[in-house]
Amino acid sequence: MFDPDSLIPDFPILDHSIQGRPLVYLDNAATTQKPMAVLLTSRHYYEAINANIHRGTHHLARLATETFENARRTVATHLHAASPEEVIFTSGTTDGINLVANSLSLSGRINPGDEILISVLEHHSNIVPWQMLCERTGAVLKVIPCHEDGTLDQGAFQSLLNERTKILALTWISNCFGTINPVEEMARSAKEAGALVLIDAAQAIAHTEIDVQALGADFLVFSGHKVYAPTGIGVLWGSAAVLNALPPWRGGGEMIKEVSFEKTTYNELPFKFEAGTPNIEGAIALAAALDFINGIGLDDIEAHEHGLIRKAGEALAGIPGIRFYGPAGRAGALSFTVEGVHHYDLGTLMDQMGVAVRTGHHCCQPLMARFGMTGTVRASFAIYNSDRDIQALAEATEKAVSMLR
Ligand code: ALA
Repeated sequence: MFDPDSLIPDFPILDHSIQGRPLVYLDNAATTQKPMAVLLTSRHYYEAINANIHRGTHHLARLATETFENARRTVATHLHAASPEEVIFTSGTTDGINLVANSLSLSGRINPGDEILISVLEHHSNIVPWQMLCERTGAVLKVIPCHEDGTLDQGAFQSLLNERTKILALTWISNCFGTINPVEEMARSAKEAGALVLIDAAQAIAHTEIDVQALGADFLVFSGHKVYAPTGIGVLWGSAAVLNALPPWRGGGEMIKEVSFEKTTYNELPFKFEAGTPNIEGAIALAAALDFINGIGLDDIEAHEHGLIRKAGEALAGIPGIRFYGPAGRAGALSFTVEGVHHYDLGTLMDQMGVAVRTGHHCCQPLMARFGMTGTVRASFAIYNSDRDIQALAEATEKAVSMLR
């Protein structure tokens, strides 16, 4: 097992003081901090490589193209994809889901009365694009409910599946409660019912090993910035068979084979879905981030973070009126409320003690409504967090609660 303290010098931002106290950064589900390996890769790109890709014949254009396509290969290997052409670079998870939803609605595959199945645990980015698709196509949005412990109701899921279900769009790990969904089993059931399956791996990407072939889904999306890479870069993985059968959504340069005013023919995968100049530096930095976590090892990362969440739960459990959300085997995030104390006030006071947590609905308003609340305090964890951060979290929470009561 690695020592999280040995990683801290790799993350310059963690050396900062906030409000005169050492920063305790526990908002990793919102975005992770960036290691030197990523920062230096971005800088090196602009200092030594920068050129537009797939267009020029000059030296830098070739170098930029080769480095960008190597980044695609790194992502494909990380995801255990069958081929790099299945990796589409996007601007992030939201962009990937919008790409699939828009392409599906253009495909003519979704008709009035068809059903789109999501779960109550979804982030707004895996709700709103589907609502927009329903408005355009006349399809109906169906929602898998959850139990009191924040796990999905599998019986309800089975009874919601039917021949009208066109797609199951499901989060792997809830950004809000840390619930780990049984995505492989659920993907299998949905596929048996004839539906496509999209997995939102925005949280899963930093916390768990991903093998898209074993997963059995058709699409998987994630954002670079939640896995130690910059913002503005993300990935849509899709099986080549499904992606080949779907029309492009955005038109422009790069996604074409030939253009005339009468007719345009489209490029092959993955370029068909990558109109315009992509975030070249972001893709290369994402590959550096994946190399960085693979250098540590995802099994060790998973074990370390599970340990942190368990210890955080134990350290906070004594606070009167505290309630945790999500099941015991959470990943990434620990959400809680304290009776009689507003989450926003709690988070504000904790910030003054140098502890950065997120408060509010975490872009999951329907989930908050399900539990009859407006928000929670959420501590979320990364490789560089340590027992010291757990102690700071517990001390700041206790102190803030006593000030507010
Ligand atoms: N999806 C991000 C979060 O959960 C922004 O905080």
